[in-house]
Amino acid sequence: MSELEWWQTAVIYQIYPRSFQDSTSDGIGDLPGITRRLDYLVDLGIDAIWISPFYPSPMADFGYDVADYTDVDPIFGTLTDFDELLATAHHLGLKVIIDIVPNHTSDQHRWFLESRSSRDNPKRDWYVWRDPMPDGSPPNNWLSAFGGGAWEWDETTGQFYLHTFVREQPDLNWRNPDVVEAMHDVYRFWLDRGVDGFRIDVAHRIMKDPDLRDNPPKPGADGTFKSMGAYETQHHIHDMGHPDVHDAYRDLRAVLDSYDPPRVTIGEVHIFDWDEWVRYYGADLDGMHLPGNFTLLYVPWDAGAVRTRVDELEGILPDGAWPNYVLGNHDEPRLATRFGPERARLAAMLLLTLRGTPTLYYGDELGMTEVTIAPEDQQDPWALREPELGRDGCRTPMQWDASGSAGFSDADRASLWLPLTPDQATVNVKVLDQSPTSILTLYRRLLALRRGMSALHQGTYSPIESAADGVFAFERAEGAQQVCVVLNFGDQAVRFVHECVVGAEPLLSTTLRRPNIDGAAVELAANEGLILRLST
Ligand code: NOJ
Repeated sequence: MSELEWWQTAVIYQIYPRSFQDSTSDGIGDLPGITRRLDYLVDLGIDAIWISPFYPSPMADFGYDVADYTDVDPIFGTLTDFDELLATAHHLGLKVIIDIVPNHTSDQHRWFLESRSSRDNPKRDWYVWRDPMPDGSPPNNWLSAFGGGAWEWDETTGQFYLHTFVREQPDLNWRNPDVVEAMHDVYRFWLDRGVDGFRIDVAHRIMKDPDLRDNPPKPGADGTFKSMGAYETQHHIHDMGHPDVHDAYRDLRAVLDSYDPPRVTIGEVHIFDWDEWVRYYGADLDGMHLPGNFTLLYVPWDAGAVRTRVDELEGILPDGAWPNYVLGNHDEPRLATRFGPERARLAAMLLLTLRGTPTLYYGDELGMTEVTIAPEDQQDPWALREPELGRDGCRTPMQWDASGSAGFSDADRASLWLPLTPDQATVNVKVLDQSPTSILTLYRRLLALRRGMSALHQGTYSPIESAADGVFAFERAEGAQQVCVVLNFGDQAVRFVHECVVGAEPLLSTTLRRPNIDGAAVELAANEGLILRLST
């Protein structure tokens, strides 16, 4: 196998900076806090961190409304703090990926303040402004992903502007070459500082239909994506993903490729049609390195369904394109709540043994659950418009220990920006590290195994036909090293019988106990997963 890039063999760990570690006792996490906790991440065994936005922001969408792409919000620290974080991470052998939000800015970004100041301002065309329809209504039927319409009326200049998310997040006009250049400068600013890559927020949305045609109606949700309320009543074919989006990412790739050592782009591409999704790699693999693959977040938790999605992905990837998987992030209900504690362990093994780059979400290694936030305490702007879609519950502070504020902050527990999980006294790094069978111990063992075995971090993938109901089994191989992963998705124990089991050495079970192998058969408990090294 040819030499792989660092991001192909890496495990990425997503940090939501408000919630990882507070160093100023204000109840909100910050960059120096992250720096303080890098040792934990090295010890955990991950290779790269992705930090959600930390730029100056009015926090209408907790940092995804950027008011200045080239600075740090005082809540999170300073540019010097960022440089220190980066230098410390590099010193410890960790890569740092930052979040870039190219589709929209904050309405407080100076570009937008200029743009909205008059119709003939030089930056007017940096955003998407349109006249009303003759009856005064918005220019088309597009909806905001966070509820309501996607157009906001501007009294001063007598036009509407487009906002795919909340009205405080006006969409940039990527058809204006000055915008493209300005955004490339933003990427260069961080590349020059030494970041190792970018997670690109809603990457597929930057290019819309140039004629801004209406989206056609969609009768009923099609089940491929979580319910997004009224937003799902349209086919979103004109308000995102116009084919020239691929030119935009080819141009961006050229910017990145001029840097050495190699940097990575990971796009948030919420597209579930494989043919359309795979185009984001670029026609000659000259687009993004990793278009984010969200399929496992929404697939029914069933051996057959998961295998089908994995095989579809493996089948659609052109030669040289690298897969990636994720099971949790700051927009989704917590993994341990979606799946329950046993399945969460199986999910960890699945994520860390499939071929491709996995991304973990902070706290999932502890089995942190979704926190129920009372409606009056919700902070997420989406929740304020559509309460049942709020995302606060998966963004709660990292739980380091059993103390009042979980070691996350010196502030009182009541002053933390979001509450801790009710079981924080037992679900925290310190306690779980003392247990040889905890989920954290399982994550550590999985990460160590994956890093130590080339079959796991870079080997081929071949599904194994299994006679056992509810079992998804596959082989990973690199040179002479062969590993078999057997995952029991069922709530019943099963006996897995296969020739690969003969003479195999059990490496790890999700139960962290030694499995019972008998010739070609191995017993798996309900929801148990097993990694076996095959005899060669
Ligand atoms: C996707 C991000 O993951 C989400 O948190 C954010 O609210 C929207 N993009 C808008 O930037």
